[in-house]
Amino acid sequence: MTDDHQLRVSKIQNGTVIDHVEAGQALNVLAILGIDGTSGEAVSVGMNVPSDRLGRKDIVKVEGRELSQSEVDVLSLIAPAASINIVRDYEVVEKNRVVRPETVSGIVSCPNRNCISNADEPITSGFAVLSDGVRCDYCGTIVREKEIAANLDVS
Ligand code: CTP
Ligand code: ZN
Repeated sequence: MTDDHQLRVSKIQNGTVIDHVEAGQALNVLAILGIDGTSGEAVSVGMNVPSDRLGRKDIVKVEGRELSQSEVDVLSLIAPAASINIVRDYEVVEKNRVVRPETVSGIVSCPNRNCISNADEPITSGFAVLSDGVRCDYCGTIVREKEIAANLDVS
C-alpha cells in the first residue's frame, strides 16, 4: 500500500512491469530490452525504491509491450529475483518469476579475446549459468552478474 507521503511511479494501462530488479540494474534492463527512448514507447523507471524483500530495488514499466522468452532469459541473468507482471487494462493478468536457464547460447559473448568463440569460426557462444554469473563453455572464463550487461551478444 502506498500512503499519501510516498511518490510512486504511476500504474500502466497495458504492458509489462519488471519488478524486484536488483538495485543498480535498471539501466541494464533497458539496454537488454533495446530501449533507448527513441522508439516512442512510454517507459517509467524507479531506482533504489524501498522493497520489503530486497531492501532496495529497481522497477521498469514498459507500456504496450510484452517480452519474449529470450529477453526474459537474459533478464534472469542480471536480475535473478525479478518478477515479470503482464498488465492489461490496468490489471495484473499474469505474474511470473524469472527462471534462470541452466545454459545460454548466443546471448553473452566471451570477454576473452583469445577464446575460440571469438575467432573467425562458425561457433555459437555457450555459457553455463552459475549462481552469480556465467562460465564460458570453451575457455572457462567467468562473467560475473554485474558484467553480463556489458558482454551481451543480442541486439
Ligand atoms: N503495476 C503497474 N500498473 C498496473 C498494475 C500494477 O505499474 N496497472 C505494478 C505495481 O505497481 C507493482 C507491480 O506492477 O509494482 C505488481 O503489481 P501487483 O501484483 O498489484 O503488486 P504486488 O502484489 O505488490 O506485487 P508482488 O507481490 O509481486 O510484490
Ligand atoms: Zn570463452
